[in-house]
Amino acid sequence: MIRPLARVDLRTIGRLWLALMAAGAEADPSYRTVDDPLAAFAPIIEQEWTRTDPFVRCFVAGPAGAPFAFVTLYPLIRPPVLAMPPAALIGDVFVAPEHRRGGIGRQLVAAAASAAHGAGFPGLEVGTLVRDARAVAFWKGLGFVEQRVTLVRGAS
Ligand SMILES: CC(C)(COP(=O)(O)OP(=O)(O)OC[C@H]1O[C@@H](n2cnc3c(N)ncnc32)[C@H](O)[C@@H]1OP(=O)(O)O)[C@@H](O)C(=O)NCCC(=O)NCCS
Repeated sequence: MIRPLARVDLRTIGRLWLALMAAGAEADPSYRTVDDPLAAFAPIIEQEWTRTDPFVRCFVAGPAGAPFAFVTLYPLIRPPVLAMPPAALIGDVFVAPEHRRGGIGRQLVAAAASAAHGAGFPGLEVGTLVRDARAVAFWKGLGFVEQRVTLVRGAS
């Protein structure tokens, strides 16, 4: 059921991404988007998320053309002086509300971790809104622990 993003999924993935943005704004009202954010972001979905180098950048769950969940990942660029293993950065994960709490999010992250590990990126990082209690609970439930804190001033 978990598979790489295909071009036939692009329209639906755009809608899911918009729902993800709305979930972020609901959890933290300072996380606002511009009007029509998809117009600005669609080229990134089409060009970046369909890439397969150095690993598949987006996995989805659901039938061709009608996915209901996705995860994205990117190679993480670290300063070359850090003696840390290569890592992938998870960009977003979203599961449509009617499919939640069934392990889909966990399976998507497992697929992402496996793809990155297989390509020589054993580490995995993610950032999330500290006010989004559900998202924080999800990442901690998957074994992620806090490593650094982002501090903001004048953000809202
Ligand atoms: C966060 C999200 C991806 C979880 O997806 P999901 O498919 O429901 O998650 P899973 O069923 O795989 O849950 C895995 C673990 O995460 C934790 N978890 C998931 N949802 C949780 C919730 N609402 N409250 C507390 N813990 C939760 C649990 O530890 C769970 O394990 P368990 O079911 O064995 O108890 C989904 O709620 C979502 O899309 N939210 C909106 C977008 C978002 O917040 N994305 C993350 C920020 S990038």
